Amino acid sequence: MIDFDPRTRTWNLVLATSFHALRADPDGRVVCLGSGPRAVGPALPIASGALPDDPFPRIGVDRQGRRDEVVTFGDHTWHEPTLKVSFPGADGGLPIRDVRLRYASHEIDRLADGRETLRIRLDDPVQPFSAWLCLRVDATLDVIERWLEIENRGDRPIQVEQLSSGTLHLPAGRWELLHAAGGWAAEFQSERVRLPVGTTLLESRSVHTGFVHHPFYLLSFEGGADESHGTVYFGQLAWSGSFRLAFEQRPNAALHVHGGYSPFDFALSLAPGERHATPALLHGACADGFSGASQRMHAFLRERVLPRTDPPEPVRPVLYNSWEASYFALSLASQIALAKKSAAIGVELFCVDDGWFGARRNDTAGLGDWRVSPEVFPTGLRPLADEVHRLGMKFGLWVEPEMVNPDSDLYREHPDWVLHFPDRPRTEHRHQLILDFGRPEVVAHLADALARIVDENAVDFLKWDMNRSATEPGSVAGKAIWRRHAEGVYALMDGLRRRFPRLSIESCSSGGGRVDAGILARTDQFWTSDNTDALARVAIQEGASLAYPARAMCCWVTHERNHQTGRRLELATRFDVAMRGALGIGSDLSALDDAELDEYAKWIAFYKRIRNTVQNGICHRLQRLEEAGTSIVEYVLPDASEAVVSTVAVERRIAQLVRPARLRGLDPSALYAAFDRDEREYVRARGAELEALGLDPNLGTGRYGPGYSRTLWLRRIG
Ligand code: DGJ
Repeated sequence: MIDFDPRTRTWNLVLATSFHALRADPDGRVVCLGSGPRAVGPALPIASGALPDDPFPRIGVDRQGRRDEVVTFGDHTWHEPTLKVSFPGADGGLPIRDVRLRYASHEIDRLADGRETLRIRLDDPVQPFSAWLCLRVDATLDVIERWLEIENRGDRPIQVEQLSSGTLHLPAGRWELLHAAGGWAAEFQSERVRLPVGTTLLESRSVHTGFVHHPFYLLSFEGGADESHGTVYFGQLAWSGSFRLAFEQRPNAALHVHGGYSPFDFALSLAPGERHATPALLHGACADGFSGASQRMHAFLRERVLPRTDPPEPVRPVLYNSWEASYFALSLASQIALAKKSAAIGVELFCVDDGWFGARRNDTAGLGDWRVSPEVFPTGLRPLADEVHRLGMKFGLWVEPEMVNPDSDLYREHPDWVLHFPDRPRTEHRHQLILDFGRPEVVAHLADALARIVDENAVDFLKWDMNRSATEPGSVAGKAIWRRHAEGVYALMDGLRRRFPRLSIESCSSGGGRVDAGILARTDQFWTSDNTDALARVAIQEGASLAYPARAMCCWVTHERNHQTGRRLELATRFDVAMRGALGIGSDLSALDDAELDEYAKWIAFYKRIRNTVQNGICHRLQRLEEAGTSIVEYVLPDASEAVVSTVAVERRIAQLVRPARLRGLDPSALYAAFDRDEREYVRARGAELEALGLDPNLGTGRYGPGYSRTLWLRRIG
């Protein structure tokens, strides 16, 4: 609900368990009055009666204490701005880099699904320039989407030099930041740091999100939260290009959070009459700890962000991907053999990875030539697609549209279509260059090529890869390339999905290098990491679960001896870990005997029974890996009828007790029974007991140590 008091010009945004309040002060500045978890009840979180003119006492001349909802570069120029603009000087005079935004008007719209959008128009009193502070409130899901729209109302171009989607002002305190950082094969490593006085940055300086930092945060008062208790402010950016989240911990203990485009090499020119809308910053607050914050982000992404295919897929299908079985050694016979074995063990979607096109027999050539290789598939891909469909599975194909190998027909035809500065050296990564999405003809060429691939080969699923970061970003679009690239990717995906409503897409970037709420509005799942070692995956998946739902997180079971780490792990451990997300299989099924294939089939059948709870349930991290070397995760359906409890031990920590996992979200008075894959019953107890006393993680087996794992399915039986 959005309540507005015209007398004090106060807006109260009231959500299920949180609030955000703002006000146009007597000068017309729109300032944040407060935000956070709220006492649930009929009263408005912030009294709308008369307030002192400036409710935020200044410390010295620190005007950042003012908490403007849109902080502009102007007046006191040392504060970190949401927005910085340069206007041409009058009659060729000095350019003016000063914006002061004042309340002009506002409107509140209501969507059919109940979400309300507050749009506050702010005008500069002197320059013909306006901004709209937009806040869309999803009261049920407890999340606010915030973005900024700006318009040049003058008759000369203006230069925007810095632009964020939003700035948030958190209560004074010493803050801790929980986020995820990493690299190739080690994505989403969670880190918890005490914010120092000063500015802490999470950022990407590429044309994609990257995996050095992932664009989300969970903030808590120092020592003030755990997985199920305490106040947490959370947020994530719906943007797949170069981004920045900046956390300014002020000496006076105030905390300002800025999220939006990275100012690194940023430029945005607005022609007369032109408007620009930023991507959204999703944010909220809760009182039930880090799991509570993650649950709100998961639900929002599932309900409002992830795309819907037509017909819809209530759960993600079990995938087979032939990359680790075949690498570049593809043939019709080998893929059909894998497809038959996949169908027999219960796979629902069969995807051929890299190497099916052009001269792509290894990673040095062919990228960009999106024609089926007659050398590999002499009769084309259609016989394979048809066989996959005949076997009752969907057919998927790997693409990497944004890239080109210099050894390709596309590059030979259009050497100027790549990002580079003329007559300067340029760097190749994995023997490839990035196409210049600043050129509309490049995007148009890819739109045709992708539509043709999907159409001619009856493709149901694309694994959309992106395997390098930007360097030497010379583009016909100039500095705008940092945005244009992501916008071009969005346009391509949106166009494909419009044309092929059944198509689903996986976002991959050498693993989890492009995962964010922007790409997730166009892709049904993401490839979490090239590292498929089950024990390494526990930390990777746990970090991803801070922000992203299990439904979207693709996890494969691969070979007994892992190709990335060389470690051998039992099949049960590999399944127990991969079943924590959207299950995929990447093993060479042709090398397995019947008994092994039978085991795969049993695990897949079990996964199909529990996957609705895993993919659409509420996720509680009962025990974080960092606590005792063991991770325990519970997924529970909102109606408490079923739960899945997954335990994986990565380390054995001598003399460190693994405490019983106290379950959450159950019906206290109901009786539950916990079963394993083979329907062996382990425990029978009331919800209240399972919540108060917990479940012994090693289930009395006495076995405990690296690789010990167990997935239990709890069902309400009375
Ligand atoms: C990187 C991806 O992460 C892998 O899964 C695989 O698709 C390769 N690219 C193919 O080149």
